[in-house]
Amino acid sequence: MGKMDEMNKMWRAEFAYLHWYDEFWFKDFGYSKVECSLAHPLIAVATEGWGTRMLSPVGENRMAVYLVTGAAGFIGSWLTEALVERGDTVRALDNFSTGKRENLAPWRDKIEMLEVDLRDEQAVAKACEGVEIIFHEGAIPSVPLSVKDPRTSHTANIDGTFNLLEGARHAKVKRVVYAASSSAYGNKNPLPQRESMLPGPLSPYAVQKLVGELYLHSYWKMYGLETVALRYFNIFGPRQAPDSPYSGVMAKFASMMLAGEQPTIHGDGEQSRDFTYIENVVQANLKAAAAPADKVAGRMFNCACGEPKTLNETYRQLAKLTGYKNPPQYGPPREGDIKHSYADISAAREALGYEPNVDFLEGLRRTVAWYREQHVAGSRSTAVARA
Ligand code: UD1
Repeated sequence: MGKMDEMNKMWRAEFAYLHWYDEFWFKDFGYSKVECSLAHPLIAVATEGWGTRMLSPVGENRMAVYLVTGAAGFIGSWLTEALVERGDTVRALDNFSTGKRENLAPWRDKIEMLEVDLRDEQAVAKACEGVEIIFHEGAIPSVPLSVKDPRTSHTANIDGTFNLLEGARHAKVKRVVYAASSSAYGNKNPLPQRESMLPGPLSPYAVQKLVGELYLHSYWKMYGLETVALRYFNIFGPRQAPDSPYSGVMAKFASMMLAGEQPTIHGDGEQSRDFTYIENVVQANLKAAAAPADKVAGRMFNCACGEPKTLNETYRQLAKLTGYKNPPQYGPPREGDIKHSYADISAAREALGYEPNVDFLEGLRRTVAWYREQHVAGSRSTAVARA
């Protein structure tokens, strides 16, 4: 690097220090994205101690900057962990409405944390600046909640996704990988469900997630923003919140059984789901981010195990692993519930090289082990508080 370049960089860093709160002020002065990112490490040095971290390494070894939305949630925190562990630069966005700070605690000093609501158009646009790849996990992810209060989930899931795509387009983000949902298939037959099938969403949540997919496709076609949608099939694993009436069934049942409480199966329990352990989902996302554009851009893939289980079977396995003795209690079927969900995963195998390495039973074992740890830790702290 020549003397002039050195001087230039020093000058920029000094100027950046004065404007440390505005990470991308360079743009206002007509500097390119590359020049902005070159300045990041110096901004990091200049602002150390102010709580801002800009971690992009300079030059040829420069790695991608990732934005993870919903980063403090179940899936987002797993993705954040995977990226941090392999040394990537992560900007984590969450409004903490359902996400938990403790989910990110172990990596907190290695990420840039933004407390932002996806409905805040300007803050979302700013969060996209300087980013190359986005994992969009932020959403209000509940079928029954969307039935009860469609407007709230509409604004988070549709407006939020739209804001993010607009932010990504203007910031010239390279790729957006999106958390789509198997609910888009509705009760579509024949099984297994393939990406080529027409969608049949039933609940507002299913519609909202499908709209996101359509928007992604449009942004690829109209603006060349590379997009990949992964239709998640009932993801489960450690860190999934068990404590809301809208929690996923696996988290709810595992923690209730460990606490000796009676779970209720909605309907006859013969509905089936293609339950998918979280590690498989992390793998699918990382592969979707890295795959060549000509194989994946503008496309949607099932993200599942291809191994459906009925709720009755799931209950039996969970009871065995937790030592819970009571037979299931049955209640009325849930509104907006679909009967069977079962994925064909050959497209993801072919285009992404995706392979569900952790099967249903192994996933259940790991999940129960984690909830057991939480349960024991919880009982211990209650005992201490009582003493
Ligand atoms: C749906 C979507 C999934 C999405 C998820 C977000 C489908 C097939 N899947 O999952 O892609 O990510 O929403 O939340 O649409 N149940 C009980 N008792 C309970 C709780 C649930 O019997 O206490 C039953 C439900 O009625 C349902 C099954 O368990 O039949 C799974 O429910 P849940 O975990 O909420 O997920 P889905 O609604 O299937």
